[in-house]
Amino acid sequence: MQKRIGVIGVGAYLPEKILTNADLEKMVDTSDEWIMTRTGIKQRRIAASDVATSDLAAEAAKRALENANIKPEDIDLILVATITGDMPFPSTACLVQSKIGAKNAACFDVSAACAGYIYALSIAKEFISSGQYKNALVIGAEKLSSITDWSDRGTCVLFGDGAGASLVAPVESGGIISTYLGSDGNQAELLKVPAGGSRMPASAKTVKEGLHYLKMSGNEVFKHAVKIMVNSAKKAIEQAGIEYNEVSLFIPHQANIRILNAIAKRLEIPDEKLYLNIERYGNMSSASTAVAFSEAVKEGRIKEKDYVVLVAFGSGLTWGANVIQW
Ligand code: UT7
Repeated sequence: MQKRIGVIGVGAYLPEKILTNADLEKMVDTSDEWIMTRTGIKQRRIAASDVATSDLAAEAAKRALENANIKPEDIDLILVATITGDMPFPSTACLVQSKIGAKNAACFDVSAACAGYIYALSIAKEFISSGQYKNALVIGAEKLSSITDWSDRGTCVLFGDGAGASLVAPVESGGIISTYLGSDGNQAELLKVPAGGSRMPASAKTVKEGLHYLKMSGNEVFKHAVKIMVNSAKKAIEQAGIEYNEVSLFIPHQANIRILNAIAKRLEIPDEKLYLNIERYGNMSSASTAVAFSEAVKEGRIKEKDYVVLVAFGSGLTWGANVIQW
């Protein structure tokens, strides 16, 4: 019989500093009205200058471990989904390992942008299914403020910092029922950080031209977003062998309220079944679904035996969805 693998503990960490739309009005030519109506974002969290992604990830990890009642030395695998690792290498997962004292874990990062947490959950599930590992720590963590061009109103109003973590392990009932992942590398130009890699190593020129910042063709990305997330959720639900109305909560990547409302309309999701935190945190890339899942659990929005759908898409393009029975 196939092993059941599920999430046995969750945790989230959001930096204290809040950046409001009113604050942004003083930085770029924008307005609270534009940001709210076009994105649904009211405020976002910003990590301090001496805080890196591994610090956010480690705090979320400690909370997930406590929630799961698992000791750091019992973790076999640490996966950090991120596009804002502390450094190009070593992996942020290794830095988290050191910070939390998980000395028996194998560690690596997962680069799948906003879909990263869903990719990492799926990888952890497979490693545990195969019998190779028992306890995996899966983290979505980002310090997007470190790659944001604070003079570009088209992007700087969208993003925030944060981290969410989950402990993945064998369970007796429920668990991760289905996984659907996909990518389209032909759309890689739509959302990227051009410089700092082997294609365009960092130089005085790249810094002067701001090429170390995130660049996005917002309109183009928007066009793909709804179709991709609807399709991904459908595929994962079909694969799980359940009906749409059996899903208790949809947790989509919090990219833009208009995208989320369009998905809800297409999938006929009533308000009470749609989890939203975009107003408070903005888009935190891989941390968005991780934090939302953790908060939904803590708020009592997910009850025993409930079916939850996590769905995300992002740079790559990448996309994915999981059906999880709690
Ligand atoms: O995380 C996964 C990937 N990311 C996403 O899913 C994001 C997808 N894209 C979006 O959410 C939207 O495209 C944005 C929120 C980024 C932009 O919204 P939009 O409705 O597509 O606006 P737009 O880019 O078409 O711009 C409309 C107008 C432009 O002015 P003109 O040319 O019509 O005069 C922009 O210059 O709004 C202007 N604009 C702004 N105005 C005030 C753009 N940003 C701002 C701003 N404040 N912050």
